[in-house]
Amino acid sequence: MPKQTVIGNWKMHGSIGQIRSVVPELVRAGLGANVALCVAYPYLALAKSMLSEAESAIQLGAQDVCEYHIGAYTGEVSAGMLADVGCEMVIVGHSERRRYFGETSETAARKVRAALDAGLLPVYCVGETLTQREEGIARDIIAEELQVLAGVPTSLYAVAYEPSWAVGTGVVATPEQIAEMHAFIKRTLNARTRVLYGGSVKGENAGQVLAVDGVDGVLVGGAALSATEFLEICREAG
Ligand code: G3P
Repeated sequence: MPKQTVIGNWKMHGSIGQIRSVVPELVRAGLGANVALCVAYPYLALAKSMLSEAESAIQLGAQDVCEYHIGAYTGEVSAGMLADVGCEMVIVGHSERRRYFGETSETAARKVRAALDAGLLPVYCVGETLTQREEGIARDIIAEELQVLAGVPTSLYAVAYEPSWAVGTGVVATPEQIAEMHAFIKRTLNARTRVLYGGSVKGENAGQVLAVDGVDGVLVGGAALSATEFLEICREAG
């Protein structure tokens, strides 16, 4: 059985000091290519040079990307630039991008395509709000969010199921909720599409989440900022 994937999303946290203290600990633990770290843009090059110097297989990712390839787009970062500094992957369509920055599924789909053009693995995030779940339309929302990727080969990207009510709240979805939605996503796309779960994953619950049928890995926010906690999660992933 292949190892499950563990991606750490540092969001807008971290510093040069924190990279210098956390990365060596992850390297020392001998983590493999099934583990990735997504740090903020300014720290990508530093993290990459530390990983390369240590000949670590840990992958590097960004948390967003511009849909355009090049040009006068002040403040944006292209997929080509991410590949240039050594990224292997990029998170696209995170619920925080959708919620705070007005990102739509259509924009996210263009970002997925831009990432693919640059040879990056897009990790496309989907998820419903609590209201949508309570209204019984969670599956419809996920289906809509996936619909925009029609035509993109499902083997070229991974999906992260992150119900927004579980993101940063300490409330992790139940094994039944996770199993049901992962099965739905795989039925909608392809049984072989890698689907990760994200939302309040920590050392103490990672084993339970990773044991759920259809979970190919986890996307970790807050708990990825502590090397000890993150390593605990990685151990659960095999
Ligand atoms: O992308 C990871 C994420 O949104 C989950 O965050 O802090 O709930 O693990 P957190």
